[in-house]
Amino acid sequence: MKKLDKLYEGKAKVIYATIDPNLIIQDFKNDATAFNAQKKGQIEDKGKVNAQISAHLFERLKEASVPNHFVELLSDTSMLTKKVEIILIEVVVRNIAAGSLSKRLGYDEGVVLKKPLVEYYYKDDELGDPLINEDHVEELSICDKETLDKIKAMALKVNEILKPYFASVGMKLVDFKLEFGKTNDGELLLADEISPDTCRLWDSETNEKLDKDRFRRDLGKVEESYKEVLKRVEGKGYRVPSKE
Ligand code: TMP
Ligand code: ASP
Repeated sequence: MKKLDKLYEGKAKVIYATIDPNLIIQDFKNDATAFNAQKKGQIEDKGKVNAQISAHLFERLKEASVPNHFVELLSDTSMLTKKVEIILIEVVVRNIAAGSLSKRLGYDEGVVLKKPLVEYYYKDDELGDPLINEDHVEELSICDKETLDKIKAMALKVNEILKPYFASVGMKLVDFKLEFGKTNDGELLLADEISPDTCRLWDSETNEKLDKDRFRRDLGKVEESYKEVLKRVEGKGYRVPSKE
């Protein structure tokens, strides 16, 4: 499948049309941004690594009956996906306090939450993606209540699948951000990407951060950490620690 016109260029991906009106190509970039693009940089091989990790996770989710847009990888950095209209909500699921939740609630990073917490952010760069609630979703006419209920249930299901999966390869799934969209036929699909750009992943033993916080907070070893996540997701390079 060939790339046709460029439809959209985001911070981490470029989207191309294909000859099939129901399919698009997502090309993953090495560009990295943080704090609503106030911080900019490049992470070597990030495009490749995030495309591969996302592909693995979308396939796993498909096997577990979470409908998503993934079709196939076309190259190291290109992914063929179903075309959806993105719903303008960033859905964040949190298992452990970190980042903006720690700031907002005064929780130390690492505090395990009583149950998975779901948050909605309005996907609007000019407003800085503000935190919103269900009433705001209705006021802004972002989507109807039935769709939002489905989105929440799907987001929690993704967590139920990915949390034990990451644990099995030596990582804590601290939190993550999802995006959803609707196809021309009105089918609701999980979309975008699931990668160290959009998840917080900590080593299970040491709590070492293996995600974009290394870039956001200038912690070093950014490329190495992304590659380590890929190795573990591919089932390479992770040894289940012995209990001795
Ligand atoms: P936060 O603690 O900064 O609100 O981030 C929560 C999760 O969402 C974290 O896994 C990183 C991810 N995230 C994105 O994918 N895109 C964003 O623009 C932001 C702010 C967070
Ligand atoms: N990707 C986001 C941005 O640049 C923020 C982040 O992931 O921290 O705006």
